[in-house]
Amino acid sequence: MTDPTTTSLTTPPTIPMPTPTTSALDPITASAAALDAADPLAPFRARFALPDGVIYLDGNSLGPLPHAAVARLQTVVTEEWGTGLIRSWNDADWIGAPARVGAKIARLVGAAPHEVLVADSTSVNLYKVIVAALLAQPERMTILSEPGNFPTDLYLIESAIRTLGRGHRLVLAPREEIAARCDADTALVLLTHVHYRTAEVYDLAAVTRAAHAAGARICWDLSHSLGAMPIDLAAAGADYAVGCGYKFLNGGPGAPAMVYVAERHHATLETPLGGWLGHARPFAFEDAYTPAPGIARLQCGTPPVLSLAALEVGVELMLEADLTRVAEKSRALCERFRALVEARCAAYGAQVVGPPPGAPRGSHVSIAHPAAYAVMQALIARGVIGDYRVAPSAPARAGVAGAPMEEDDSRHAGVMRFGITPLYLRFADVDRAVEVLEEVLRTGVWQEPRFHVRQAVT
Ligand SMILES: Cc1ncc(COP(=O)(O)O)c(C=O)c1O
Repeated sequence: MTDPTTTSLTTPPTIPMPTPTTSALDPITASAAALDAADPLAPFRARFALPDGVIYLDGNSLGPLPHAAVARLQTVVTEEWGTGLIRSWNDADWIGAPARVGAKIARLVGAAPHEVLVADSTSVNLYKVIVAALLAQPERMTILSEPGNFPTDLYLIESAIRTLGRGHRLVLAPREEIAARCDADTALVLLTHVHYRTAEVYDLAAVTRAAHAAGARICWDLSHSLGAMPIDLAAAGADYAVGCGYKFLNGGPGAPAMVYVAERHHATLETPLGGWLGHARPFAFEDAYTPAPGIARLQCGTPPVLSLAALEVGVELMLEADLTRVAEKSRALCERFRALVEARCAAYGAQVVGPPPGAPRGSHVSIAHPAAYAVMQALIARGVIGDYRVAPSAPARAGVAGAPMEEDDSRHAGVMRFGITPLYLRFADVDRAVEVLEEVLRTGVWQEPRFHVRQAVT
């Protein structure tokens, strides 16, 4: 790989791009302007609070603030909480919010309204459905997933195995082997639909079929596809799904998560966290637990009303957009980003990872670089905000918050991750982001010590 510190005089190769439509602009700028002018999703950009001077490429991690959320939270705080006080559980239907927002999310994932609930975090929901799936098929002892899956998914499988104490085992198989590895001992297949690091995407229907053919159940972690592309859980016949509210749904930091359970499993659904609000009659205050009908039993305690209110705004906004169009624009933006990075930044050691051009993909683009962390910090300092993910093979020694990155950290090609979110990103933003990336790499400004100090959140 080229040493970026010694290539500052390298001339970037010419980029093959569409013919200009406006003679005053260079071909690339003109093609971005034309694409932005013709973009049917363009009006959505005005619905978000996007700071001046920022190109926000981290909506796959934390979506930006919808303007409507400010007004909605103002009402919930000052009127419903401030004036309505405890009466608002009924008068403002706070108590109905988990099911109501769940029913709205159901429309984004091809589920029936009563199959989706909003509750807790994705991690907690994972724990609930993993245990439920294992209890439902006690004769099967294997949970199948892939190495490099999002860590919480693997950790929660381990937690479920430990707390059940029945000798279940976790098997990790490469993604291309998953279908073939489903067998008569597989109780649950747990996969992340779009990989958080590489943006690789599973064929949700095909893998669900393979799991079912072996008599196994499947849980999809939709965290990186929910709100980014059309999903049809019913058509696929999926058993369980979970997904984050704060990413593409723009529900705000710490927004609660969705959980889906197919109706056919409702009657026998067992939760390991049978709390009072998942009881059939919470306000009967009975000593013994009786589960609420259906998915409502997956609610455990009091829902976070303020966070739910913000999430509902994000979900409603997403429901206004046509997800097929969102996915089409995402693909066009991702392909453009990839092509520009390859043309302008490869000479400085930047390498696009993930699905090749034309292959199915999720809505972020990851770029490996020997100094990915520092390069990302330099980008953020210039208003181009993405994030950094450590290489999967890097051991836990990757660093302590506040300390300089270890010298050899750069040898593990961590990735810069750029979220491509079509509701508020323009083609011109993609072009500008690559221009800044190229400048950071060419000048070597990322070598400044301040860009090497590891923050708690990367
Ligand atoms: C794929 C995936 N699953 C699960 C989670 C964890 O979600 P939470 O922290 O809300 O439990 C994340 C968080 O980024 C994620 O990317």
